[in-house]
Amino acid sequence: MNEADKLREITSANREAWEEAAPIHAKHNQESLVKIFSEPGHSCLNEIEMVRLEALDFRGKSVAQVCCNNGREIISVKNMGAGRCVGFDGAKSFLEQARELASAAGQDVEFVCCDIYDIDESYYAAFDIVTITIGVVSWMPDVDRFFAVVANLIKSGGALFIYEQHPILDMVEPAGPDEPLDWNTSYFSKESFVEYGLDYFKGESYDAKPATSFIHRMSEVIMAGVKSGLSLEHFEELPHHISNTWWNIEKADIGLPMSYTLVLRKGCKPEYNNKKRK
Ligand SMILES: C[S@@+](CC[C@H](N)C(=O)[O-])C[C@H]1O[C@@H](n2cnc3c(N)ncnc32)[C@H](O)[C@@H]1O
Repeated sequence: MNEADKLREITSANREAWEEAAPIHAKHNQESLVKIFSEPGHSCLNEIEMVRLEALDFRGKSVAQVCCNNGREIISVKNMGAGRCVGFDGAKSFLEQARELASAAGQDVEFVCCDIYDIDESYYAAFDIVTITIGVVSWMPDVDRFFAVVANLIKSGGALFIYEQHPILDMVEPAGPDEPLDWNTSYFSKESFVEYGLDYFKGESYDAKPATSFIHRMSEVIMAGVKSGLSLEHFEELPHHISNTWWNIEKADIGLPMSYTLVLRKGCKPEYNNKKRK
């Protein structure tokens, strides 16, 4: 099997796992989300995200969110004054929830269902800002190829904003606040993790399909961006927990970076840097 086929096999198995998780997430939070998005101008973005978006002067700009899940973040960006907004995700069922939230908000946000590695070329160079938040990068089997695809979406002069959990957390088995820290993986490990069940809201167990994730070290993430032709504009490692899973590290309070913000800028070269996956 060639690399492209291996990648497709992983991402399509993961898509099945996300599809299966979607009704479980919806059971926990969709009704309350519909209610809060019915209030005009609702935003679920925190101050850290807003500071970065303001620095990118996002109002009126075209914004895409890659792996947008139920769309609450990209709808919030739209509610806060962005121009054209598009959310991409592989799981159809999450995008159905996203459309319901956009409709509750009375906002015109486009949601596109596709594997991120296969985004249609009609979206290339279409966005001033692309965002990626919380729990996306580790699902990518090939981080270089992922950044190449994402970079293609950005207009010349535009930016990529990432607010993610820090990959060092992967060294520890995620667990509840009263569980000990189980350091079971090297930061330099290239092994993948397989988990069964993606209910990171209530931890509900169900007869789940496997989902595979990966450690991409901070240096690999930044260099993937640089290799895709983007330049580093901002990078900050942060102490606070955004993952919804590593409550044991948060409680232990041992001074690990738990999240980060990263802004990469696209220069003025007009050419695309990667062909679509075959
Ligand atoms: C943890 S969730 C999303 C994060 C979002 N920031 C949130 O908090 O809702 C990860 C999302 O990535 C999507 N995803 C993972 N791999 C993907 C791929 N290869 N192509 C498209 N979507 C993908 C999943 O369907 C899921 O909705």
